[in-house]
Amino acid sequence: MTAPETIPADDLRVRPLRQADARGVAVLVADYFTELGTIGGMSVEQTEQLFATSWLEGGCGLVLENGSEITGYGFVRPSRWKGSDTVQFGLTLKQGYRDRQVHRILTDPLLTAAIEVAREHRINNICMHLRVCDTCHPPVMLELGFQEDPVSMLGFSHDLKAIPNRPLPQGLRFRPARLPEESPALMDMMASVFDDRDRQGEPLAESYLALIAAKPGFDPEQMLVVEDSNGMVAGSIIDATAPGGNSSILQVGVRRDHRRRGIGSALVSRQLNWLKARGAGAALAGMFSTNIAATLFWRLGFRPDPQRTFRFFLRDTAPAANQNHGGTDDALS
Ligand SMILES: CC(C)(COP(=O)(O)OP(=O)(O)OC[C@H]1O[C@@H](n2cnc3c(N)ncnc32)[C@H](O)[C@@H]1OP(=O)(O)O)[C@@H](O)C(=O)NCCC(=O)NCCS
Repeated sequence: MTAPETIPADDLRVRPLRQADARGVAVLVADYFTELGTIGGMSVEQTEQLFATSWLEGGCGLVLENGSEITGYGFVRPSRWKGSDTVQFGLTLKQGYRDRQVHRILTDPLLTAAIEVAREHRINNICMHLRVCDTCHPPVMLELGFQEDPVSMLGFSHDLKAIPNRPLPQGLRFRPARLPEESPALMDMMASVFDDRDRQGEPLAESYLALIAAKPGFDPEQMLVVEDSNGMVAGSIIDATAPGGNSSILQVGVRRDHRRRGIGSALVSRQLNWLKARGAGAALAGMFSTNIAATLFWRLGFRPDPQRTFRFFLRDTAPAANQNHGGTDDALS
């Protein structure tokens, strides 16, 4: 159904996000993905699972309601961006609810909340990511005083048809990470191998790793390490495969003193073979446009996937005099 051109603002109200909103939010987000002609989003069950976790700790969520229908949804929470703390800003507006007069009912208090979270945590900027195929929300973000960052998150996919053979260098072997006891060490290692975060982006948060490991059908092979004969870990790969579905290779990392020996390539090609044997349709990956790892993925047969490519929009937490955010200054002060 196409939404009416102009929504009477009087009929709308904004209120805090509740755990029971999972269904309404999942429907809103699914409609948005359909509108974009793309795939993704989370099922009602996955949204329920997420809302049951502490993912919003230190932040908050808001919904815009028209009667009992959720027509807008936003959240803000502390996160990381290029090696620094940031406030992550999430926003989905239903078609027909993206005019300034309408969306401000949600976006003004959301921006205020983002600025409050930033102040509380001494953070200087707010960051939002949007799919490149989304041309609906960027104008809203510009109205709110955000500016686009030159770096994007490149999406890649591999059809698993031809997988180059990349064996490990001699003396090294793969093994599944020993979870949960090895999880903190694995996270520490991944945090240290991301040694140029301006160009590489951020390693996966431990809370997200726990979410992957808790998914039904999780297989220990999804979190592999490479170790030498002394048990020293040289690298790792973490994969968020949904059983029966496509797959996402989320993160590969190799210790600096072991790089350029083919370990990263061996980890990725090992994972591709495992995914294929499991019946996956494709493998997916994403990385900053400035990450040299794009060459590694390209050489192994990954190709750009625009549906999973994201643009980033950033905003200082202080209102800039020359920014035409169109919002009230009360909302930003
Ligand atoms: C990306 C990373 C995993 C590569 O690990 P690696 O073991 O060095 O990778 P490989 O030895 O298999 O390299 C494969 C190819 O990638 C390219 N490559 C990797 N590192 C490179 C670098 N620093 N400069 C230029 N090319 C590079 C090269 O083409 C290389 O092949 P070559 O050595 O024959 O020229 C490692 O650099 C790393 O941990 N980076 C930090 C974490 C990260 O950014 N991960 C990717 C995002 S998920």
